[in-house]
Amino acid sequence: MAVLILAEIEPTDPWFPGFITQLKQGKPNLDLRVWPECGKIEEIEIVLAWLPPLGVIQRLANLKLIISLGAGVDQILIDPDLPDHIPIIRLVSEQKSRQMVEYVTLAVLLFQRRFIEYQALQRSRRWDYLPVPDASSFTVGILGLGVLGSTVAKKLGSMGFPLRGWSRTPKAIVGVDCFHGWEQFKRFLSKCRVLVCLLPVTPETEGILCHETFSALPLGAYLINVGRGKHLVEADLLTGLDSGQIAGACLDVFETEPLPKSHPFWSHAHIIVTPHISAVGSPDDVADLILDAIARVETGKPLEYVVDRNRGY
Ligand code: NAP
Ligand code: GLV
Repeated sequence: MAVLILAEIEPTDPWFPGFITQLKQGKPNLDLRVWPECGKIEEIEIVLAWLPPLGVIQRLANLKLIISLGAGVDQILIDPDLPDHIPIIRLVSEQKSRQMVEYVTLAVLLFQRRFIEYQALQRSRRWDYLPVPDASSFTVGILGLGVLGSTVAKKLGSMGFPLRGWSRTPKAIVGVDCFHGWEQFKRFLSKCRVLVCLLPVTPETEGILCHETFSALPLGAYLINVGRGKHLVEADLLTGLDSGQIAGACLDVFETEPLPKSHPFWSHAHIIVTPHISAVGSPDDVADLILDAIARVETGKPLEYVVDRNRGY
């Protein structure tokens, strides 16, 4: 069984060499190939994909499984020629969830404790005190109550932040005011001092972080986007920041990645930019998940975290 890595790899990305080493150490007899050096195409039975070049997957006649190299699968589902019958699984691990919890918690605290303003004051050598809203009055709203959204909610709840969450289907989560569906969307937004996007990008959720959404938040709300760049209408965020409707944003994902050097987000005083690193997973953690999935294919055990193609996540 040959496994093909089909991914757009940044030449400077230090993650991949470590990942390949871990895969080979975990399974020394693994027949691992890296696109475009794929050998005989009919030998490929498993693909590890991240932004795979369009049209390649349909040519793999004996493919059994597509493994997303992330928790999201939008970057695979954009291929219009993807064969319908091949299962796609996504990567879910405690480590990835923990990393996301760290990132979102840090961003919420930066906003609540006003560190963005304190950094500006520091640059002006000003010793000013800013009033800090108590955590108990700083409601965090989470778009998406799946694996990551619900784990983030648990942590923030334990720190005293009131929580709201929004999902497609109804949920009951202790300590979270749960809303679902578009009918309840604006009611959900109405009290969120911070809006965290942990949705998958689908035709339904693309562009959800837009002017209309921002206008339904309390004045001076904050945005944390760790979902996908396509969730955000970037021009609407800039307008929202200009008007003060949005007080600050922490963005990990962008319409175009890497974020172009000329992009206004880089130098905006109220935007924090990180290069899609909120929950990457370490090479050994991701390799372990993949080796487990390969073993499941080899032994016929059921796969975990299979994507529902109709839902798109
Ligand atoms: P998940 O377990 O599949 O959860 C997705 C959540 O989104 C579910 O609660 C789902 O609702 C909700 N949802 C989907 N479509 C919706 C809609 N139309 N309206 C309302 N709610 C909707 O996914 P996850 O593992 O938590 O990951 C979420 C996303 O995070 C990934 O898809 C990926 O894009 C992003 N991510 C980013 C990074 C990064 O490094 N920046 C890392 C990991 C993941 P139901 O529960 O009702 O189905
Ligand atoms: C990262 O963006 C992921 O989907 O895991």
